Amino acid sequence: MSSQLSPAVVLDPETGLDLREVAVRPAGPGEVEIEVRAAGVCHSDLHVVSGDWPADRPLVLGHEAAGVVTRVGPGVTSVRPGDHAVLSWFAPCRRCRRCVAGQAWLCTGTKAVANTLPDGTTPFTGTDGAPVWPYLGLGAFTGRLTVPESAVVRVPEELPFGIGALLGCSVTTGVGAVVNTAGVRPGESAVVIGTGGVGLSVVMGLRLVGADPIVAVDLSAERLAVARRFGATHTLDGAHDDVAAWCQEQLGGVDYAFEAIGSPRVIETLPRMLTSGGAAVLVGMAATGATGSFDLFDLADQGKRILGCNYGSSVGEIDIPKLARLYLSGRLPLDELVGRRRPLSEAAEAFDDLRSNTGVRTILEP
Ligand SMILES: NC(=O)c1ccc[n+]([C@@H]2O[C@H](COP(=O)([O-])OP(=O)(O)OC[C@H]3O[C@@H](n4cnc5c(N)ncnc54)[C@H](O)[C@@H]3O)[C@@H](O)[C@H]2O)c1
Ligand SMILES: [Zn+2]
Ligand SMILES: [Zn+2]
Repeated sequence: MSSQLSPAVVLDPETGLDLREVAVRPAGPGEVEIEVRAAGVCHSDLHVVSGDWPADRPLVLGHEAAGVVTRVGPGVTSVRPGDHAVLSWFAPCRRCRRCVAGQAWLCTGTKAVANTLPDGTTPFTGTDGAPVWPYLGLGAFTGRLTVPESAVVRVPEELPFGIGALLGCSVTTGVGAVVNTAGVRPGESAVVIGTGGVGLSVVMGLRLVGADPIVAVDLSAERLAVARRFGATHTLDGAHDDVAAWCQEQLGGVDYAFEAIGSPRVIETLPRMLTSGGAAVLVGMAATGATGSFDLFDLADQGKRILGCNYGSSVGEIDIPKLARLYLSGRLPLDELVGRRRPLSEAAEAFDDLRSNTGVRTILEP
């Protein structure tokens, strides 16, 4: 079968961001072809565009997406053509020690973070015949994809594609940070700093488990208003309020402090927000090589913990359908997380939405 051409949002280290035609090769053994219907624009795409995470090869961006299975390669058993699917950006190898232990989010064998398929190849080729690589093994800002079976999670057909897209990254990460990484229990207190797509999902997760109080911090009044509707009991302005002092004075310190920005300066302040035995949860991803410092005596003396959080410590096949069911039964207000919808040709404007905190999560529709 011949490859098909589709427009794709490509970040090229030589020429920057543009929309160009790419061919995608058909599914081989263990692979699945997807028609993308919706793709969220996550700050992890922006980290690459802005150079926080340098890329040395042309990449099709996009890693938060949902669509329809159009064809499966030999040996694929978990999905078939016509199935609706959410894509997972951390396609686990299913063979390493972590995968075997049920901790797919810690997979050491995945090639997704190297921006390739599991065999080290790419399914995309430019019109000049040169390879174009899939960001996080997906490259979802285009109409058609070929991905490994382990990146595909079947979801109910009644789940809207825009919501499914958000389950591909921000929601699974944010709710998972609460439920899986931190294991927050009813009545425990939390602060969430940065209420974009990921931080608002943390707020939603905190309400879901009955945390109280839930303190949301951002620079954007609009985002904080959404955070209140999602369950925040208090909101603070990150530009003016001393969040750590407020947490100590008002609450005697919080049980959990979630950071969903990726700012070393903010991350360094998390332990000072905590009560003894509390945990800082690092959900935001800092620039490559960023470091930070903490009061080491305080950490040891007060038994405070620092928890890294990749993909909300989630197992895609288990957690994504679970979150889809919670949305469909009205337990997660995800409709309000979907912001502006734009065609692929407006990818640059979509990144501007993210930079300027306009709306909530912008969705690209191929
Ligand atoms: N751990 C993971 O697996 C994972 C998954 C997805 C995204 N991420 C990371 O999470 C972070 C957030 O992603 P997002 O898509 O929600 O980004 P976003 O841009 O939508 O949201 C970031 C929010 O932080 C706010 N902010 C910025 N500086 C602030 C400050 N000093 N004080 C208070 N608020 C501040 C902004 O106003 C914005 O609302 C990124 O670093 C992203 O790469 C991590
Ligand atoms: Zn993401
Ligand atoms: Zn693995």
